[in-house]
Amino acid sequence: MGCGSASILQGFDSTTFGSVLGLDLSTEAIRLANRFASDKVVFQVGDMTSFKCPRTYDVILFSESLYYAPAMEREALLRRLVRHLKPGGAFVVTLAQPKRYADIIEMIRRCFQISEDRPFCRSVRHLLVFS
Ligand SMILES: C[S@@+](CC[C@H](N)C(=O)[O-])C[C@H]1O[C@@H](n2cnc3c(N)ncnc32)[C@H](O)[C@@H]1O
Repeated sequence: MGCGSASILQGFDSTTFGSVLGLDLSTEAIRLANRFASDKVVFQVGDMTSFKCPRTYDVILFSESLYYAPAMEREALLRRLVRHLKPGGAFVVTLAQPKRYADIIEMIRRCFQISEDRPFCRSVRHLLVFS
């Protein structure tokens, strides 16, 4: 969600995943992301706050993007999308400015089952894994 130019895919071994769908509001970001497009990797322009999820996923990733959803809509967005996680699946959220977005961390801790909640190694960037 909010995949941007999808640079995270540079670090992915395509034999380790079945499929990826990347969504972003920006047509320019999706144009750039499409350099990773393949039979398994698809991108589309769309708004995460109104996105109709077509199927279930093992992982729904918000890498530096959840805070773009309006504050009043974040919890509802996650509660809607949690129905699109496969059994055993998880959200992954990263926040480079955890102090600024302490309200997001607090909401996630209050509403979801956390499996990881920690800073990245040698970084203030925060990682949350939850379902
Ligand atoms: C800081 S960038 C992060 C990009 C990428 N996930 C990364 O980690 O490099 C945030 C992205 O969220 C996208 N975005 C903002 N609001 C959005 C929305 N409502 N729906 C989908 N994407 C959105 C922006 O266009 C931008 O590409």
